[in-house]
Amino acid sequence: MAIDKKFINQFINVTSKAALASSYLVGKKDKIAADKAAVDSMRSELNKINIQGEIVIGEGELDEAPMLYIGERLGSNSNGPEFDIAVDPLEGTNFAANNLPGALSVIAIAEKNNLFKAPETYMEKISTKVNEKNVVDLDYTVKKNISNLSDYLNKNPENLTACILDRPRHKKIIEELKKLKVNLKLITDGDVSGALLVTEEKYGVDIFLGIGGGPEGVLAAAALDAYNCGFQGRFIFDSDNDKIRAKKMGINDLTKKYELNEIVLGDSIFCATGITSGDLVKGIEIQDNDFISETLVTHKSSGLKKVRKLKQNI
Ligand code: FBP
Repeated sequence: MAIDKKFINQFINVTSKAALASSYLVGKKDKIAADKAAVDSMRSELNKINIQGEIVIGEGELDEAPMLYIGERLGSNSNGPEFDIAVDPLEGTNFAANNLPGALSVIAIAEKNNLFKAPETYMEKISTKVNEKNVVDLDYTVKKNISNLSDYLNKNPENLTACILDRPRHKKIIEELKKLKVNLKLITDGDVSGALLVTEEKYGVDIFLGIGGGPEGVLAAAALDAYNCGFQGRFIFDSDNDKIRAKKMGINDLTKKYELNEIVLGDSIFCATGITSGDLVKGIEIQDNDFISETLVTHKSSGLKKVRKLKQNI
């Protein structure tokens, strides 16, 4: 079933208010305070919406997160439509704390049981604008992926751009990409945004790859689905504790490669509002008693994919 369009503006309002709350703490060198402001606002706004929502990706489990914890139920109507909710109230805590570009407030909604319940571990990810199978795949080498993508897009590797988190764990991949003469867009944080740079030509990114947060992977997948882009993810369970938690969440095959349609099913809404300006959207601007927010919003069933600018009273 399609998610009623009336919810789109309500979820834009949720991330816009969370972004505003966090924006007061931009540059204050306090990641925790900036995150808490976004979390508090998001929770209170979600509780005003006429739904029965359940957090499936949030700030952690009950023992580690007092609010927006996985399993928390939100919404004002016990008879309202049932939704799975994934949140990252402040994506890019470093960006906000240090007034750097790219901090976002992000939410994704699908109908009940339609969003993957991702544990808080790392995930190996790949996204491209190509939705066909066997072009780009997590199981292929970097060389094979680049060669296939280059053939498919009819572009030489030197005309392709790959986005990847600048981390020591990606040293080998980055070296390989350099050897293949692929252009690099190295990002210091914020891989929800990184994964979404393949969605439109204007961003100039052909492939996003590497290891980042699992929850961020699921959030990005919701938007990529609306853009009809390709995404695959594989969780990385390093510690025994991670393995036990994964089993508890119903994940039996710990090495499984997930396709986009196994992560997000059916209809979805995705909203990402800028806290500081970045590649996708501008940050919060305050003008007297008003604030201006920009939100990248997608609604799969209606084909909505756009940046919505809003001016609201504070
Ligand atoms: P936070 O907003 O929680 O700080 O996450 C930022 C981020 O860059 C994510 O976008 C990314 O998925 C993750 O951190 C990568 O983790 P790490 O910094 O450990 O490489």
